[in-house]
Amino acid sequence: MKVLITGGSGFIGSHCVDAFAAAGHDVIVFDCVAPLHTKAGDHVIGELLDPAAVDKAVTRSDFVVHAGGLLGTHETVLMPEEVVRTNVLGTLNVLQATTRHGRGLINISKPNVWLNPYSISKDTSEKLCFMYVDEFDARVIAVKLYNVYGPRQKYSRVRKAIPTWIVEALNCRPIEIFGSGVATVDLIHVRDVARGILAIVEKFETCRLRRTVEIANDVYCGFPKHNEQILELGSGKSITVKESVEALASALDIPVEVRHLPMRRGEIDGTRLCADMTRITALTGFRLDIDLMEGLRETVGYYKAKLAEAADGVL
Ligand SMILES: NC(=O)c1ccc[n+]([C@@H]2O[C@H](COP(=O)([O-])OP(=O)(O)OC[C@H]3O[C@@H](n4cnc5c(N)ncnc54)[C@H](O)[C@@H]3O)[C@@H](O)[C@H]2O)c1
Repeated sequence: MKVLITGGSGFIGSHCVDAFAAAGHDVIVFDCVAPLHTKAGDHVIGELLDPAAVDKAVTRSDFVVHAGGLLGTHETVLMPEEVVRTNVLGTLNVLQATTRHGRGLINISKPNVWLNPYSISKDTSEKLCFMYVDEFDARVIAVKLYNVYGPRQKYSRVRKAIPTWIVEALNCRPIEIFGSGVATVDLIHVRDVARGILAIVEKFETCRLRRTVEIANDVYCGFPKHNEQILELGSGKSITVKESVEALASALDIPVEVRHLPMRRGEIDGTRLCADMTRITALTGFRLDIDLMEGLRETVGYYKAKLAEAADGVL
């Protein structure tokens, strides 16, 4: 099968490129930047905001994994236009092209619990997917990824916890925790995410969203039926921010100083995240492969080798 992966130069997209290529699929990458991490696949430099370019790439494929877009929580508070344009209109271009040509689409989203432009844009894109299923019989799977970590995650601009903590600790600077540290996250290694997405694609017809008369009502009434059709992909285990730092300190095997700071804009203290893996397990049989400590040690090794690039702001 030919799979188009938007955002295939990025962290999650590039691991999907490797996983799909290794499984024997023909991969086409669609990204506005050149490949950074893998030589697998056929690369198209393209802009999600260019409907003709997206349409052309979609016609070359049998299905699409949409992992392209802009990330960030507090970083996006002062740039709502750019984030909404890329994530909402960009996703709309992908959704319209896949619907027009009858191609399957996996839309990658996240738990949208915070009020910042990133979360709002992801939530809106997810709802557009439901609307396209309801109105136009679009062939879509909605996947919510939890806290993804592992090699290739960007360190600069978007301050994702794991790369930031590792680089700071390796530079003998304190690890900063925003808020009390009691919030929980659900950490999943990026190669498990790529395997999970592959497992979902292989059961496309089983996993796809169904048209339901309840969707429209549910969107305005707490949308339980709407959520029931979403596939959540994490580890299924919650860990507090404090415990994650302790696990990381053990993987780093160096003394780590922790500093508590107030929450940042666009984030809320005490959020509790934990993926419900019931649906993905039942529909695809997917099981995680990578233990947290093993994954963290590998990730520490990756950033140790790239410390100079982190200092230069290119990582
Ligand atoms: N990283 C996480 O923990 C996490 C968690 C949940 C969901 N997600 C979702 O997974 C997806 C991938 O995230 P990631 O962590 O790999 O991010 P990333 O920044 O590493 O990758 C995003 C890619 O999209 C490309 N891109 C951005 N704007 C574009 C545009 N206008 N046109 C074409 N390409 C464009 C970028 O060049 C980049 O390669 C996103 O949808 C994100 O919301 C990520």
